[in-house]
Amino acid sequence: MSTLTHAQPILQKADFGPDFIWGTATAAFQIEGAVDRDGRAPSIWDTFSRQPGKIKTGDTADLACLFYDQYEADLHLHKALGFSHFRFSLSWSRILPMGIGPGQGGVVNEAGLAFYDRLIDHCLALGITPWITLYHWDLPQALEDRGGWRNRQIVEWFGAFADVCTRAFGHKVKHWIILNEPLAFSVLGYCTGQHAPGRRGIWSLLPVIHHVALAQAEGGRVVRQNVPGAEVGTTFSCSPVEPFTASVRDAGAARRVDALMNRLFIEPALGLGYPVADLPFLKGIAQKYTLPGDAERLAFDFDFIGLQHYFRAVVEHTYFMPYLWAREVTPLRRQVPQLTEMGWEVYPESMYRILKQFAQYEGVRKLYISESGAAFYDGLVKGVVDDPARIQYHQDYLLQTRRARSEGVPIEGYFVWTFLDNFEWAEGFRPRFGLVYVDFRTQARTVKASGHWFSRLLNSTGPL
Ligand code: NOJ
Repeated sequence: MSTLTHAQPILQKADFGPDFIWGTATAAFQIEGAVDRDGRAPSIWDTFSRQPGKIKTGDTADLACLFYDQYEADLHLHKALGFSHFRFSLSWSRILPMGIGPGQGGVVNEAGLAFYDRLIDHCLALGITPWITLYHWDLPQALEDRGGWRNRQIVEWFGAFADVCTRAFGHKVKHWIILNEPLAFSVLGYCTGQHAPGRRGIWSLLPVIHHVALAQAEGGRVVRQNVPGAEVGTTFSCSPVEPFTASVRDAGAARRVDALMNRLFIEPALGLGYPVADLPFLKGIAQKYTLPGDAERLAFDFDFIGLQHYFRAVVEHTYFMPYLWAREVTPLRRQVPQLTEMGWEVYPESMYRILKQFAQYEGVRKLYISESGAAFYDGLVKGVVDDPARIQYHQDYLLQTRRARSEGVPIEGYFVWTFLDNFEWAEGFRPRFGLVYVDFRTQARTVKASGHWFSRLLNSTGPL
């Protein structure tokens, strides 16, 4: 068992109340493998990861964790760790290989639906509540070939995908997440080019933002219509933003970065429109890409918002970053005491702050931490993975979650990112976020000390 370096504040499951939701979160492309089996067609991530230099380690996710074959054993392990909720995403191109729905000239891949049907049934048989994410970044390549998120038709394509999925699983699955981190896939995929489909430049970003925001609301409406009793949400990456100095210029920089990182996709859904006052370049959306009726189309009354918080942002003003006029003051420059393998600062108090910030919106009724976790170097030594830093991380972020909850923030659950070590996008397999270590050569699983720690937290009634 792992040894923690300093005195432990007391943490126990009961502090969060009997209805608090404890789960883990995953995503199809990161764990499934089986990319060319049973009728699945390529996604933008299959294409992107095959281009030399795009994935730092040169990996592809062709096999990943082979969850496609090993899901039964994996879910047993999940259950043994004490987690009663499992979040996973549906691979769009496994279900609709052409991306488009049956009414749009496409075909449904029944074998793709059957895989998820087995997975859901297995969850239910084990008493694990399934949570479906409709879109976790793996757009069908066939749709990218038609413009992807730059093409407004994607709102209908996504609506058709949501329709097929909800008709297939809506009688068994009641928790639906529309999008995973819209900001991340819009900006990294279509502006900086670090993620699939690898497009660069500011000009495609405006239509992408608008189509993503429209699809988010449209997906919500489809789920609401097809799934009686559904709890519908969407998730956001989020970071409390702080100015580096007390100067007026840095305060302005912080306001703009906050608008971009935290407000861009939630405010249109809440009927507040895009944050144009702080980000004037967004006016281009109204000027070029908006149709009559879009203000209403952007709004959707989500039952919950999922927050995914990994780092705080400390920023300063700069003239070198057009449109944003701000840049990050890196953790390295600030000489922070602890970084994760991703180079992200460990700063638990930011969990409390971001929860408080989102709770201020009148239209936000319920929050979940739909992902929380960290990559640290993990070694498998004589069959054991001792990861005290990850235990400390979850403990400290949970304590800050509890603190926000005790002050009335409606935070109702915590999903660990993640269950299994997996394909960390452009970083490949090197960063390990899992509670369970995966040997990617043999597909053997080893529960890390952090996994055992969660199992003690979730399976016992006393303090740890
Ligand atoms: C957020 C993304 O949703 C997930 O796919 C990713 O692996 C984690 N952050 C860690 O970077």
